[in-house]
Amino acid sequence: MNVLVIGKGGREHALVWKLKQSPRVTQVFCAPGNAGTALDGVNVPIEANDVDGLIRFAKKERIVLTVVGPEDPLSHGIVDHFRKAALTIFGPTKAAAQLEASKAFAKKLMRDADVPTAEFRVFDHPEPARTFIETREYPVVVKADGLAAGKGVMVCATKQEALAAVERIMVREEFGRAAGRQVVIEKRLDGEELSVLALVSGRTIIPLAPAQDHKRALDNDEGPNTGGMGAYSPAPLATPALLDEIESHALVPTVHALKRRRTPFRGVLYAGVIVTNQGPRILEYNCRFGDPETQPVLMRLKTDLFELLLATAEDRLSELVDKPLEWDPRPAVCVVMASQGYPGSYPKGKLITGLEEAALLPNVKVFHAGTKFEGGHTMTDGGRVLGVTALGETLAEAKRHAYDAVAKIHFAGACYRRDIADKALKKSVVSGP
Ligand code: GLY
Repeated sequence: MNVLVIGKGGREHALVWKLKQSPRVTQVFCAPGNAGTALDGVNVPIEANDVDGLIRFAKKERIVLTVVGPEDPLSHGIVDHFRKAALTIFGPTKAAAQLEASKAFAKKLMRDADVPTAEFRVFDHPEPARTFIETREYPVVVKADGLAAGKGVMVCATKQEALAAVERIMVREEFGRAAGRQVVIEKRLDGEELSVLALVSGRTIIPLAPAQDHKRALDNDEGPNTGGMGAYSPAPLATPALLDEIESHALVPTVHALKRRRTPFRGVLYAGVIVTNQGPRILEYNCRFGDPETQPVLMRLKTDLFELLLATAEDRLSELVDKPLEWDPRPAVCVVMASQGYPGSYPKGKLITGLEEAALLPNVKVFHAGTKFEGGHTMTDGGRVLGVTALGETLAEAKRHAYDAVAKIHFAGACYRRDIADKALKKSVVSGP
């Protein structure tokens, strides 16, 4: 059976790599892919937003399952178009993908469904937003309503920062006119963050192993926010009791609320959680696999990913609820190697060496993100370049293996954090899955 993965990041490379391991899968195509997906699958030169081109390709190659990686095509309704063309696709419809595409929609749905989340207000003019900020006695987070490539959320330490965020989003429209039409202003919460991803179809929810991301560019959670500089799974913070609470108080009411609105969710629901002194609170929902969380999570998944994603896309995930997912008990750590300057502007076209040596290390997989193959060489082609991922008997060993592999890889200006997984290593108990 032929499968198509849409996207070109580290998450998509991990999906291609894992789907290719299914005995039922013949070929995994990736559109447009990167240098790594070309090694584990077959790249197709079609961009992720070229829906007509992707539909034509899926029909021609008799693709049995298309898996959408990034949020953009989902928010534009790629799933609706594929379904109309009688093609099977993994991901939510445009209506359900509002949960990620509109922060105001997500917050209102959470409030209506009694999902624990920070108190908030939505504004469609800058003046009342400014007045609200001036009269708050607590620090706030200002969020552009629409998709802003992960840059539209500003965690503010002072009123001045919050006012500046409103200026950037609504007045200067730095994230685009549509994204800045509304802002969500919410109370800033303190705690540790956790990524809980679950497969969802209809009312069936199958959580995946929890992971923790590292959003800041620099060690000790300093520097600007990025798409994610590293991740590990499992997360010691995510005890079984905490995961049960997140499922019953957040995932279940959210999925039921979407179904009641006649926009049922099918795909992967990603809850960005903050664990506060008062318990877990949902910071945001995403409607796709996390990047880089997917890399360590799929490194540990033993169950056939193709079966899981096909069952989700065909709305028969309920058939699988009695079969628990199988996980490698060993922890996995992913270290992102990025271009100099990321998340700001950065150069491209730097030669990457050492990939073959890194690949020879046991229990290591180097997932490509911003890379391309040109003139017989692998070159940098994006901000996040590689997700060097490793398993170990312990989290400390997984970290060591990942950094051993990182040490073999070189490109001019390579940047990476040295402290991935350190927060978890300071905690004593590691609990499954
Ligand atoms: N790792 C953050 C995200 O995927 O949005």
